[in-house]
Amino acid sequence: MANNRHYYTRTAQLLHWIMAIIFIAAWLIGFYSGNFLTFENNEALKSDAIDLHKNIATTIIFLIVIRIFWRYTHPAPQLPDSMSPAMKKFAHLGHLALYLILVALPISGCLYSWSAGHPAPVLYLFEIPRLVNPDPALMAITHPVHVYLSWFAGLVVMGHLLAALKHHFIDKDRVLESMTKQPK
Ligand code: HEM
Repeated sequence: MANNRHYYTRTAQLLHWIMAIIFIAAWLIGFYSGNFLTFENNEALKSDAIDLHKNIATTIIFLIVIRIFWRYTHPAPQLPDSMSPAMKKFAHLGHLALYLILVALPISGCLYSWSAGHPAPVLYLFEIPRLVNPDPALMAITHPVHVYLSWFAGLVVMGHLLAALKHHFIDKDRVLESMTKQPK
């Protein structure tokens, strides 16, 4: 669904940039912890990093619900006429993939933590009620699912970022500004 405005609403912009910051921070901390820290060599730092990763990443679950609601009630601006129908379709599919990732990735992280017998805490304030019991067989599935999904998410977000920069610097259209500015 699209409308004739050139700009996203302020609420949509705020949700977009807050979630972008949380996603990038969670991704970098998770990647660093998963690939450069071990319990053998850096026990305290590793458990602090995992704790921080989870406490910020779980907020995405709540924010994405608000974001999807907002997206349906406040349609996005139309893509520029200079884009071919095929490119527009590709952009819409990319956006759909981002929404699916923002739902699936944090849920897979929670399932991984619960199946490993650990909590899914939110902003160091409360814990999401555990929906599965500790289960090594389940963890053998949830762990790789979270890891591979996070890598795929990293690629899709990188593509999204490059596309936004191309619109701004090469195509010189209003696509990036639709997420940063408001009509005068
Ligand atoms: C948008 C949200 C999230 C992003 C972008 C994200 C990203 C990542 C990344 C990139 C990794 C490292 C994968 C690797 O080993 O290469 C990771 C690991 C991990 N994630 Fe997430 N994740 C998210 C949500 C969550 C949530 C909600 C939880 C649990 C509540 C969680 C729990 C974990 C755990 C326990 C690890 C393993 C860390 C380690 O082995 O040191 N993640 N995540």
